[in-house]
Amino acid sequence: MNGEFFSKKEASISVFDRGFLFSDAVYEVSAVISGKLVDWKEHFARLIRSLGYLNLVHNFQEKDFYQIQKKLIKENQLTEGLCYVQVTRGVAERDFNFVKKPLSPTVVIFTQEKSILNTPASKMGIKIITVPDDRWRRRDIKTTQLLAQSLAKTHAVQKGVDDSLLVQDGFINEGSSSNAFIIKDEKIITPSLSNDILGGITRSSVIKFCQKNNIEIKEQKINIDDLIDAQEVFLTSSTGFVIPVIEVDGRYVGNGLVGEMVKEIQKIYLEQIKTKLS
Ligand code: PDD
Repeated sequence: MNGEFFSKKEASISVFDRGFLFSDAVYEVSAVISGKLVDWKEHFARLIRSLGYLNLVHNFQEKDFYQIQKKLIKENQLTEGLCYVQVTRGVAERDFNFVKKPLSPTVVIFTQEKSILNTPASKMGIKIITVPDDRWRRRDIKTTQLLAQSLAKTHAVQKGVDDSLLVQDGFINEGSSSNAFIIKDEKIITPSLSNDILGGITRSSVIKFCQKNNIEIKEQKINIDDLIDAQEVFLTSSTGFVIPVIEVDGRYVGNGLVGEMVKEIQKIYLEQIKTKLS
């Protein structure tokens, strides 16, 4: 926290922190495999972009964040899991106006053990349902306002499936904490970047790696009919990498088994990221 290391029990923040009172905060989640960070530079760059969108003043240096994250991973003996970074605007009397006096940001970084490779979800696929996208309009900024996503995920689990896909005006935006892809007529399609979705780091790596391997990928709108007709569907995120979807709203995707193209993309993704861990 703020450059110092604390045990889980000791770490605490003020009840007047604007992250707590207003969700006035941004965050990043990077995967850790073999004790190393996946796409660290890309995550740090997105953190700085998110801070910029919120006019959150800071003097962060890339190398400081990198060193702290590496030290945490080492101290916590993390081999597979996540490294979470959150920056809030800081502590102030509760006031909607935040420009009264300069604040110093609160920085919290922790690690979490989690299986990412070889999970049942990545091998067997998951079942999802579609739900309305109830979030604010700037989903391209990675803020900690995650209530709509948390409600959507919980709703899915209560309905006996694994996750929700967020839909707006008949078009697919993204998963509750992932980007969405479909495969139709052997072409991979994912919604284009806009304020409606988060520009996922895993999404952009998948696009890059597919292009490198001459697999065609299109960024365009996906409507519900495209989703229903899709041969294959998958989700991408730092917490799951490439996750096949085998059922949408109670209907099988294809024959209800994990498709061959998504298996190929999982293979390519893993091969490629293993060459650029840091
Ligand atoms: N969430 N879209 C949303 C709404 C997300 O919350 C996430 C990631 C993604 C995928 O982004 P990336 O590939 O950069 O992880 C897309 C993280 C994992 C989370 O909140 O835990």
